[in-house]
Amino acid sequence: MLPEHVVSDQFIARFQKHPLVILAPGRINLIGEHTDYNNGFVMPAAVDKYFAFAVKPNGTDQFNIFSVDYNSSVSFQMDGLVPGNQWINYLMGVVDGFRTRGVHIAGVDCVFSGNIPEGAGMSSSAALCCGFGFALNEIFQAGLSRLDLAHVAQRAEHLFAGVKCGIMDQYASLFGEQDSALLLDCRNLSHEYLRIDFGAYRILLIDTKVKHALGSSAYNERRTACETGVRELQKMNPNVQSLRDVSLDQLEKIRAQLPDDVFVKCRFVISEIARTQQAAQVLKSGNMQAFGQLMYETHWGLSRDYEVSCEESDFLVSHAHQFTQDVLGARQMGGGFGGCVIHLINESCIEKYSSQVRAKYVATFKKEPGFYSVSFTKGVHTL
Ligand code: GLA
Repeated sequence: MLPEHVVSDQFIARFQKHPLVILAPGRINLIGEHTDYNNGFVMPAAVDKYFAFAVKPNGTDQFNIFSVDYNSSVSFQMDGLVPGNQWINYLMGVVDGFRTRGVHIAGVDCVFSGNIPEGAGMSSSAALCCGFGFALNEIFQAGLSRLDLAHVAQRAEHLFAGVKCGIMDQYASLFGEQDSALLLDCRNLSHEYLRIDFGAYRILLIDTKVKHALGSSAYNERRTACETGVRELQKMNPNVQSLRDVSLDQLEKIRAQLPDDVFVKCRFVISEIARTQQAAQVLKSGNMQAFGQLMYETHWGLSRDYEVSCEESDFLVSHAHQFTQDVLGARQMGGGFGGCVIHLINESCIEKYSSQVRAKYVATFKKEPGFYSVSFTKGVHTL
């Protein structure tokens, strides 16, 4: 049963009224990793794995939320919001975001459920925040734009979940478009839709099933390393605001002033920003081989320089490398430390390749990987 049907049925059973139903997609990212919080480019797409929300105002200041997937219900008041635990944090963070902006909202009854694999690097938390924010905005006619909602959702992650994420995930969930990826410029938050036609190739996600436990602290550390680099670069040129503003040559000039580790991290980011721009060009010209090659380059940069990969992801990418006729590109996707490896693979090989790699993965790591195929969909919307 689809999540939208599950939430409608459960909502009606619990609250005896008919809800508004909202769908909020997760995302993949074709290329451009750890570039968003450095004002660079990213190339995400909203996908057909999503959260569904059934929501209705309840005439009080209380939020009554039921998570079907966790089989758990939580109520909280609008006032005195403090981060609690797990999923409810995100929703509290969104309510707090509306409040801080001085936008009037009130209590709702809400049931939600989804099919975005958790911890797979597909931004289930961004979809949760964006979908709930969109619902409140609709119900109370709060007048926030999609971009405002992306910022509210990002703030919820920063303040209520402690992850200093960039804006890519929220932006993709809200601005996604059918059959398209977004080329998002995170400096001025403008985007271009890239209509995706991979020809004979398809996106296949292989989930390492390694949950990024290390994730939030290590993610924030990477961000700090980039900021350290920027501060040193500013001594040379006060106009530098982010790694987007510098070339590899400029970075090289201050190498002696930087801890090795910071230098290597900044070098990855600057290269990845350029790689993403190059990837957009080759994609437009239909050169899938070149695009796939760039994906591999990103992976090894993420693994060796940015150090956000893991043994399992490296294993999957190395495996893909042996079949470059069929698998044009593969790389770890999202924040890192596990989650999914995104593959650009010839459609005719998917079945055979999946069963081969599965057997080797199970033999090596004694656990089952997950396999997901996705299509690109429109962003958060009312059903
Ligand atoms: C996570 C963050 C994003 C982005 C990616 C890495 O998904 O939420 O903002 O930084 O990692 O590209």
